[in-house]
Amino acid sequence: MSEVNRMDNPIVPESLDDVTLINPEIQECPFPTYDLLREAAPVFHDPITGMYVVTRYEDLRNIALDYDNFSNHRYSNDPDMHTPSQQIAYNLFKEKGWVPGKSLAARDDPDHKQMRSLFDEAFRPKRVKEIEDDVQSLAYHLFDEFIDDGECDYVRQYAVPLPLFIICKQMGARDEDVWQIKAWTDAWIKGLSIGLDEEGVIWATEMEIQAQHYFQKIFEQLRKQPNDTLLSELVNNEVPGWGRTLTDNELHAEMMQDTFVGGSETTTNAMAAGIMLLDRNPEIWAQLRSDPDKYLTTFVEEVVRLESPAQAMTRIAKHDYELHGVTIPKGSVVDLRYAAGNRDQRHFECPHDINLERRNAASHLGFSTGTHYCLGAPLARRELYWGFKAFVDRIDSFSVIPEKNNLRHLPNYALRILKELHIEFKARN
Ligand code: HEM
Repeated sequence: MSEVNRMDNPIVPESLDDVTLINPEIQECPFPTYDLLREAAPVFHDPITGMYVVTRYEDLRNIALDYDNFSNHRYSNDPDMHTPSQQIAYNLFKEKGWVPGKSLAARDDPDHKQMRSLFDEAFRPKRVKEIEDDVQSLAYHLFDEFIDDGECDYVRQYAVPLPLFIICKQMGARDEDVWQIKAWTDAWIKGLSIGLDEEGVIWATEMEIQAQHYFQKIFEQLRKQPNDTLLSELVNNEVPGWGRTLTDNELHAEMMQDTFVGGSETTTNAMAAGIMLLDRNPEIWAQLRSDPDKYLTTFVEEVVRLESPAQAMTRIAKHDYELHGVTIPKGSVVDLRYAAGNRDQRHFECPHDINLERRNAASHLGFSTGTHYCLGAPLARRELYWGFKAFVDRIDSFSVIPEKNNLRHLPNYALRILKELHIEFKARN
């Protein structure tokens, strides 16, 4: 048992008056704030964003499963509904690229269920198994590239390329374009920031438009010549019940949000977070090494639970909804803080500790639950498994290099992103 996420000076709010989740200092180590919210205000009306933040495990689960009262329909194609930033982006997409359609994650059933069945078929277990062979060999190959150096930036040299190369191959992108794609996804994430100025919105949108032109060529090629990639199925197969394939606008929405950011950025962040946790908890590193076959699967779950790369997702209240004495008015944005539920002592014993024997580790909400349960969870789990397995197999001892890291996360409202992780290590013989 051990204490995790120790920071030199985490913000520990004394009262709710000090809390807003857009504060970058709170985002850096949000866990003490989540503790306060869970106990003092399990439905918290954030004064700055206006969102209703939900933090207890059971409430989060209930809301994620309550399709009568909560909707994922966060998207509006109607310019009258746009904020000024959305309008700037919309105009640019219209003029120079493709206005992204409604993504899978932003739909409600039955529309969602129909589209999801196209995706479920493309991500079928047999295919994930086939992809896993590539994951396993890439996991070791990446280590071979820097193992003789005795040090590396684990984020840039390992945690980014492993899931990114895998998803790029499935999306028909060439290996040599991987870092360009990374620059586009980084820009997309910056574009998500609440409070981005006009210049920032224009820059992020133009980067996304560049990516659209890159992927548009691939869509057109795959329509002429289907192949065995995931994207080929998404481009060419009809959505069951719709009588048509996805439009270019719908496909473009999937590329950034659901596959590259949803699918590789989150896995990268979990991978880096896992190594950081091992550095801070040497007894867990020793335990993992003592019997990787026994402990690795739970380690993967504990990393996703404790660090929650997707800290939160939103829903829209379809009706006025009362919870713990607070009325969430119809139309409000509800912030499902999965990361807070994942450390709720009502569900997880000693919730801040990493515990490789935890029986209910996999019941975390890091991949959500219900109809929007993460499509890529089976793939992410295998990527994390092989990423950590190769680490245990290749590395004898390691430590974070303090003078090369600032160990800060990128300020972000919904994602937990470690920028870099320079480690020095002794390789195994
Ligand atoms: C550690 C890695 C990952 C984490 C933590 C993560 C987290 C999540 C979460 C929390 C959701 C639920 C959203 C909601 O409640 O509205 C979600 C949905 C989704 N994820 Fe992941 N994800 C990961 C990896 C992946 C991968 C590898 C892919 C695909 C290659 C992927 C694709 C998706 C898609 C398409 C959805 C939307 C599903 C739907 O709405 O039906 N994710 N993910």
